[in-house]
Amino acid sequence: MENIKIALLGLGTVGTGVYKVLKAQKAEMPDKIGAEIVIKKILVRNKEKAVAKVDDPSVLTTDWQEIIQDPEIQIVVEVMGGMEPARTYILEALEAGKNVATANKDLIAADGRELLDAAHAHQKDLLFEAAVAGGIPIIRPLKQCLAGNHLSEVIGIVNGTTNFILSKMTSEGMEFAEALAMATELGYAEADPTADIEGYDAGRKVAIMASIAFNSRVTFEDVYTEGITKISAKDIRYAKEMGYDIKLLGVAKNTPEGIEARVHPMMIPSTHALASVNDSFNAVFVHGDAVDDAMFYGRGAGELPTASAIVGDVFDIARNIRMNCCGRIGCTCYKDLPIKKMEDIKSRYFLRMQVEDRYGVLASITSVLGNNCVSIAQIIQKAKKQDLAEIVVITDSVRERHFRDSLKVMEGMSIIKKISSVIRVYGD
Ligand code: NAP
Ligand code: HSE
Repeated sequence: MENIKIALLGLGTVGTGVYKVLKAQKAEMPDKIGAEIVIKKILVRNKEKAVAKVDDPSVLTTDWQEIIQDPEIQIVVEVMGGMEPARTYILEALEAGKNVATANKDLIAADGRELLDAAHAHQKDLLFEAAVAGGIPIIRPLKQCLAGNHLSEVIGIVNGTTNFILSKMTSEGMEFAEALAMATELGYAEADPTADIEGYDAGRKVAIMASIAFNSRVTFEDVYTEGITKISAKDIRYAKEMGYDIKLLGVAKNTPEGIEARVHPMMIPSTHALASVNDSFNAVFVHGDAVDDAMFYGRGAGELPTASAIVGDVFDIARNIRMNCCGRIGCTCYKDLPIKKMEDIKSRYFLRMQVEDRYGVLASITSVLGNNCVSIAQIIQKAKKQDLAEIVVITDSVRERHFRDSLKVMEGMSIIKKISSVIRVYGD
């Protein structure tokens, strides 16, 4: 019976989860993978802080050299996060002939190509199932199980914090700030929630999924991101009245004009499967020419769900080590497709604004939209207060460029006192 020695880099939320899951799996490992995974070293910054989390404190080290120079360690599990030193450590581990499992979406979304090329050069595995949607299997399905498809669409709710916030705003009528405070109190939102609420975290996940789904490299810089900070309880209420829910969606589409990669709030029909994905849950919806529609649902973050994905990767690598076939599946980006500019995407839009309540106002607004090729699907006057009226417009599917042009004109019109919200609407 083989002992496969591994090292963990980091013992925070995910690292501790990996430690616990490996312990819970210990008895079954020989039958499951024909080997026992032994944690030989854990890299931490502060040993004292980590001592209580492990059975044997002698595994703790603050010195990377103890890991990189140990030929017995065959797998490095990077769960420190951030760009550096994680990037350097992963490259050094691959160069030293070690396999790597990582949960680091920031790194994979920015430098995936370079890291996968290094893994290929050294014929080692670099797996990152945990980097997208935590416990939900999505990297392996896209890369392997769905390889017999031309995938055209990957759409998902891939950030648990923002989904929790929007769910609370929907079910309890909370405003954004109140729901964010609740998410922080319950431990969903990080101390600095910027990456979640501004859509950057979801953007990194979209870049990774799009690269794999469309076999063409998409980096985080290619992804348009817009967060949820401007969504109000009123927008959510009006959306509901019209049969929609508001979700922060990650959208990746392979179109004849190039790849669309974007993250933004979207009104989706309340009957759509993604509308029922609530609280901190994630879901990814995929369309392929052979499989048709497929949906993946579950916990997108957290100690044990994320560790579940990491340990799955570690077991896969262990099986490959035993069969002497590491590095079998590397980078699958063999195309070089263009990225579509955001101005060129087509969408329907929800527009809420405060206007002067007098004759000719509606006619002026519709004429600006019409002059910019924006066709109106619905226009509703919601409420009147003193001499102001609230108008809601839903457009047909139009080019973003045309919609932005009309917004620019409307922003300069004295009869329009405030453009309160602009939200994209799902569907053609
Ligand atoms: P975390 O709780 O902040 O843990 C990171 C750990 O790494 C901390 O214990 C930190 O030590 C340690 N660390 C950081 N830099 C180090 C260094 N240079 N040397 C040694 N140790 C170092 O973060 P996490 O939530 O576990 O996330 C880890 C990774 O998983 C990130 O890439 C994250 O994006 C990804 N991920 C997280 C989740 C989730 O639900 N949390 C889900 C999916 C993916 P200190 O405590 O001393 O700072
Ligand atoms: N912060 C992320 C979320 C989890 O809220 O979904 C880590 O990917």
